[in-house]
Amino acid sequence: MKILVVGTGAREHAICEALKGESELYSIMSNHNPGIARISDFKVANEGDLENVKKFALEKKVDMAFIGPESPLEKGIVDMLERAGISCVGPNKSAAKIETDKSFMRNLFEKYKIDGSLVYRVFDSYEDINDFLDEFDRDVVIKPVGLTGGKGVKIVGDHLEDNNDAKEYARHIIETKMGGHHRVVVEEKLVGEEFTVQAFSDGDHLVPMPAVQDHPHAFEGDQGPITGGMGSYSDKNGLLPFLDQKNYDDAVKIMQETINAIKKENGPYKGVLYGQFMLCEEGPRLVEYNARFGDPEAMNVLPLLKTSMVDICSGIVDGNLKKAKFENKATVCKYIVPDGYPETKFDNQPIKVDEKSIMAKGCRFYYAAVNQKNDKVYTSSSRAIGLVAKGESIKEAEKICEEATQHVKGNLYHRKDVGTQKLIQKRIDHMNEIKR
Ligand code: GLY
Repeated sequence: MKILVVGTGAREHAICEALKGESELYSIMSNHNPGIARISDFKVANEGDLENVKKFALEKKVDMAFIGPESPLEKGIVDMLERAGISCVGPNKSAAKIETDKSFMRNLFEKYKIDGSLVYRVFDSYEDINDFLDEFDRDVVIKPVGLTGGKGVKIVGDHLEDNNDAKEYARHIIETKMGGHHRVVVEEKLVGEEFTVQAFSDGDHLVPMPAVQDHPHAFEGDQGPITGGMGSYSDKNGLLPFLDQKNYDDAVKIMQETINAIKKENGPYKGVLYGQFMLCEEGPRLVEYNARFGDPEAMNVLPLLKTSMVDICSGIVDGNLKKAKFENKATVCKYIVPDGYPETKFDNQPIKVDEKSIMAKGCRFYYAAVNQKNDKVYTSSSRAIGLVAKGESIKEAEKICEEATQHVKGNLYHRKDVGTQKLIQKRIDHMNEIKR
């Protein structure tokens, strides 16, 4: 089968690795990612230029397309490719609203009485936000309703001083039409531990993957600005050290009810659904959905997949998705990023990746936002390379992964604490405190 993967990053490199060997791979990527380039017939082009993607797909006569990032989904890439006779793993424009329109997502929870929601309001007037926040006695989170590449969400106590600061930020969103709309979602701030569950969906059946915890803060000890994610871990039982089977099952139930509701409202959701949850005192509550694999979370689960990825993709598009099996191993992923990321952009700096030594440690590597020029690899303004190790325990995987980081050289840094026992114990203690 000929499969086109759309997207440039480590997530797409991991998707390509999972598909390779079983399919003839094609890719469209906006940077020359050396990992994807060596296993696919590729074109370096803007993945958001839908006409161009369609032209390439038709030229190469691909049978199926796997859409990595959210932005082409929002533009309707799936609708366009399906009209051209190409099946897609990824929701169409209207089903992708579960990520691209945060008011749609919250309203869906309300209408279908799905558990795990929170207090929220959608506003398009600053005066109404003012009135609401003058009465609301808890801290809030402010979100533009549309896509902002992960940079639009601000939390009181984290990026915002207090609810007055939140009012001003909400005004800024409305006035500048951040995320494409003069509209903002105001949500109560949840307290707990965040975790991710990703699942394959054919519109009816949901096949969940092992739970993962990402680390969005740039610096060790969960300090510094929010990034796309600095690394992540998963445990060998598919749960997390602070997350039990009931918590996981409750999260999966919320996701199943969500795809049932999307089907009723907008038609079947076909693709990967990413649920970001907060484990609170009373159980999991939904922070947000993404209409795609997580990055870095894709790198934790895909190397564990024992079921054929091509069979899974065929099940998604044909509507007969069956169970997927995963290895019972722990994983740790550490992202290596340019110095100054995410604020100062040290792009176009050469890096040296000693692939052989990384592999000799038993570690995998997935190239992210880098550019190969001749035989050299250069950073761009985002994350550079994800290293992923498996192990019988998180501890074992962390050790392998950390040791492998020394084989990537350049003006780079990574969070040494991702997957360490000290940080994991902090998560467990935090959760115990909340439950007390
Ligand atoms: N890990 C965050 C995301 O994929 O959006």
